[in-house]
Amino acid sequence: MIIQDVAVAQEALEKGQLVGLPTETVYGLAANAFDPLAVARIFEAKQRPSFDPLIVHIGHLSQLDELATDLPLGAQLLAKTFWPGPLTLVLPRTQKVPDIVTAGLPTVAIRMPAHPLALKLLQSLPFPLAAPSANPFGYVSPTTAQHVHDQLAEQVACILDGGACSVGVESTIVGFPDGQPTILRLGGVPVEAIEFTLGIPNIPAQLSSSQPHAPGQLVSHYAPKRRIGILAHGSKPAHIASSEWIPFFSDAAYSMQSLSLDGSIESAAARLFSVLRRLDDDPKGPIMWIEAAPDKGLGRAINDRLQRAAHRA
Ligand code: TXA
Ligand code: MG
Repeated sequence: MIIQDVAVAQEALEKGQLVGLPTETVYGLAANAFDPLAVARIFEAKQRPSFDPLIVHIGHLSQLDELATDLPLGAQLLAKTFWPGPLTLVLPRTQKVPDIVTAGLPTVAIRMPAHPLALKLLQSLPFPLAAPSANPFGYVSPTTAQHVHDQLAEQVACILDGGACSVGVESTIVGFPDGQPTILRLGGVPVEAIEFTLGIPNIPAQLSSSQPHAPGQLVSHYAPKRRIGILAHGSKPAHIASSEWIPFFSDAAYSMQSLSLDGSIESAAARLFSVLRRLDDDPKGPIMWIEAAPDKGLGRAINDRLQRAAHRA
């Protein structure tokens, strides 16, 4: 059931049920983060392996204290600069966070989303929300309430409709192993902006892994059903040479689409997952060809998702 009323979502969450949560990045599948049974329902609904920890969403900075301890200075600075917004911080956890949320790790991932409905809902609840992206494990993330409905209607009490996600790729994840900032997932906040804020020129990244505790980092993820071919940025085959920036085409280029509507990288990111879903439904041709984005800023997050979506084991 797709709804507009925050109070209905609030009531379902208080009962331990699952709710489709709009955020500025992608839609989440939310449950009371302090209720291990409710959180278990998330894993079940997504068919998500239990070794894959969840992000805890907060509506107030004051909630940080009950979730995390020993915040590095860099983490405080990033929270102050980018929250609410598409940034997740991995921090040492408190005992209050259930093991099922962190998959037993000594750290917890936390973010304050910027979507007004998400904030309103979070601020109306006496607990934070654990929420992964609202898609079956390994599939393309949802960027509209309808996407959530298409795949998880049976599993949720309701889906709060917040319109199409404005950012369109998941949050950037930053951890602090040994106190040093490390990029764990490329996402909505460009790495350049994080480097600028921290005054550190080349923050190391640990992005690719078959390690169970780091799954947005799995080599194959965000995968649509059809195969994807990636073209180097700027290298368009002759027959689509006149198309716009980041063209999509399948088969003989007859159903090509431009990812960005206005030529901006923001528009390309916002449309990425819904275009992947739509092309998946398009019967033409076994492969969808996609031109990579320029490898900087948000373009790096787009290219990261394309590579994982294209990967076949
Ligand atoms: O934008 C987003 O972050 C969205 C919206 C709904 O907030 N959420 C999202 O959640 O993308 P999910 O579960 O699809 O991805 C969360 C990622 C996973 O790759 C998980 O491994 C990582 O966060 N993660 C969570 N806790 C972690 C921890 N303690 N240490 C390292 N990675 C962690
Ligand atoms: Mg996900």
